[in-house]
Amino acid sequence: MRTPIVAGNWKMNLSQADALTLGRAIAEGAPTRGVTAIVAPVALHISALGEALASSPVLLASQNAHWAESGAYTGELAAPMLRELGVRYAILGHSERRQYFGEDDEGVNRKTRSLLAQSLHPIVCFGESLDEREAGRTRDKVEFQVRAALAGLSADEARRVILAYEPIWAIGTGKTASPEQAQEVHAFLREVLEDRFDRETAQAMPILYGGSVKPSNFAELLSQPDIDGGLVGGASLKAESFLELCQIA
Ligand code: G3P
Repeated sequence: MRTPIVAGNWKMNLSQADALTLGRAIAEGAPTRGVTAIVAPVALHISALGEALASSPVLLASQNAHWAESGAYTGELAAPMLRELGVRYAILGHSERRQYFGEDDEGVNRKTRSLLAQSLHPIVCFGESLDEREAGRTRDKVEFQVRAALAGLSADEARRVILAYEPIWAIGTGKTASPEQAQEVHAFLREVLEDRFDRETAQAMPILYGGSVKPSNFAELLSQPDIDGGLVGGASLKAESFLELCQIA
């Protein structure tokens, strides 16, 4: 039985004061059981958010992390530094980072392995573009990205990874993949994971859906057998809608 996950990716939004207000409201209303609630503020706000969320069930994620533990990597964030601030998860390979910051599959794999070695949980994102979907290449694309991200991992390590299927055409566009479209990809991924690891591992790994998730479409997405939660952008920026997503989960 996989516990549902609602992860809010705040992206590059909110002043620190607004982030704290949102974090406190979420901390007050978040269910204490039955769902894992995660928020990913910008790195600058992690420290303040860590204090605001300290006695709540809401867990902290970073929107990125570097593979090195320290060193000459200007502008980057190391896993031990994140862990020191109470961060438990890091989003890797988001399509916006792939598109604008040159993040590639090899880098996502290095980061995944490094985070696991530092006892953090990677939230690994992948997904097809509209062109790829229309050309019938969705399965090839997601299989390639997932296998690349998990290269070299043992089954035990893989079970600490969260996967997030985010079709690029559904991100911030208001166009959600239909529950059937998302389920088809998630079920296919489960087969890929079984082939790559084993049945137990494939069944244990959470696979989130991301792309215009909101309270009005979440219940139906979540009712699909292989969809284990949401990685949520826009709808995670309001306490009311984020908490509603947690209630639905
Ligand atoms: O990582 C979450 C994401 O990219 C989806 O964003 O705004 O479509 O929910 P949004």
